[in-house]
Amino acid sequence: MKSPVRVGFIGFGTVAEGAVSILTGQQALLRRRAGFPIEIVKIADRDFTRARSAAIPSDILTGDVMEVLTHPDIDLVVELIGGIEPARSYLLEAISHKKHVVTANKALLALHADDIFQAAADQRVSVGFEGSVGGGIPIIRTLQEGLSADKVTAIHGIVNGTCNYILSEMTRHGKPFSDVLKEAQDLGYAESNPTLDVGGMDSAHKLTLLARLAFETPIALKEISVQGIEHITQADIAFADAFGRKIKLLAIAKETDGFIEVRVHPTMIPKQSLLAGVEGVYNAICVTGKNTGDTIFYGKGAGAQPTGSAVVSDIIDIGRRIQTGADSQVTPFPLKPDAPSLPVKQMENVESLYYLRLMVEDKPGVLSRISGVLGGQGISISSMIQQGRKAEGHVPLVMMTHKAKERHIQEAIATIGQMPDVSEPVALIRVEED
Ligand code: HSE
Repeated sequence: MKSPVRVGFIGFGTVAEGAVSILTGQQALLRRRAGFPIEIVKIADRDFTRARSAAIPSDILTGDVMEVLTHPDIDLVVELIGGIEPARSYLLEAISHKKHVVTANKALLALHADDIFQAAADQRVSVGFEGSVGGGIPIIRTLQEGLSADKVTAIHGIVNGTCNYILSEMTRHGKPFSDVLKEAQDLGYAESNPTLDVGGMDSAHKLTLLARLAFETPIALKEISVQGIEHITQADIAFADAFGRKIKLLAIAKETDGFIEVRVHPTMIPKQSLLAGVEGVYNAICVTGKNTGDTIFYGKGAGAQPTGSAVVSDIIDIGRRIQTGADSQVTPFPLKPDAPSLPVKQMENVESLYYLRLMVEDKPGVLSRISGVLGGQGISISSMIQQGRKAEGHVPLVMMTHKAKERHIQEAIATIGQMPDVSEPVALIRVEED
């Protein structure tokens, strides 16, 4: 029997508890699969008073993080405290002690992947981050290994379970956004700061990692255009349905004209598409490759057991490299000097189809004035719904456009929003075809 791979945990919250319960509850299976035993040497946390499902001998628990980071018997440190600091310092400290590291911390990697992977390369240790995107979906390893022979041209992902749960519940049960957000928080799907979820930033964090893996290009978080789901209304959901579509928060990365588009926003997609069928807290990532065409990866995007399983898979993967002395890093973390590094396309130059919802006065000439503004920007309307007036007041006017440039549509809606016939800011949702 090979010697054990010895692991220390920093943080004993939801995901760590899931990973620890898998490590303790499936020992024989993991040993068979990995070819070596995995031993938990220490778990550091600030609070051990909260009851945990995994039974751990008390001498393994410590309140002192340094005990894990510097422990001579620990080969691999698993960081599951989340957030930027002190998580970043802890990972760098562990690496400086020549310990391999595993993290599910997408926010940290979105901002500091370069430092962390460079430090790891310098020390010839590995960084595992399968749990950082898509919970239990093995999308990181899929992009690094399964699809390593393909040239990826696009990624469309539902990568935030909280948003998908909220949009699904709003669609299925007609509930308002705020009620469903509260439910998602009670169910433990949301981040400690739910604005990261509903504002789209959690999806953007994940997109930096997916896009870099797919396109070998470093993506700075600030280069991603991010819009959340806070402004989606029941009216938009109903009109989407009338146009044969559903609204999903998509993280999109695609290569167009030698640039990479990276954006997160609510998106109308055809009802019959596979991504439209992804409901509740589930995630799905569609990868389009030159050779493979579309491949879709679907599963639970959050939660203790799914994400814990991804964390343990990293421990096994790195453990194998420790056992065989294989080199540690997998490109593009850190980037190779000859990586293609395509420029990111400015959002104003992105082209899309658009859904526009206006509240207008139902009187002669309004429609022609509005379509005149759109026409002036070279934007062509593909279909339209106007609900008749039931009483005095404004009525919704909803349009779908043909492909248009973001800059032109933004200029058009700014002008339309100022017109006296239009009573509120124009609602805009981007539309993706199959
Ligand atoms: N808050 C995240 C989500 C958890 O809702 O998907 C997983 O990253």
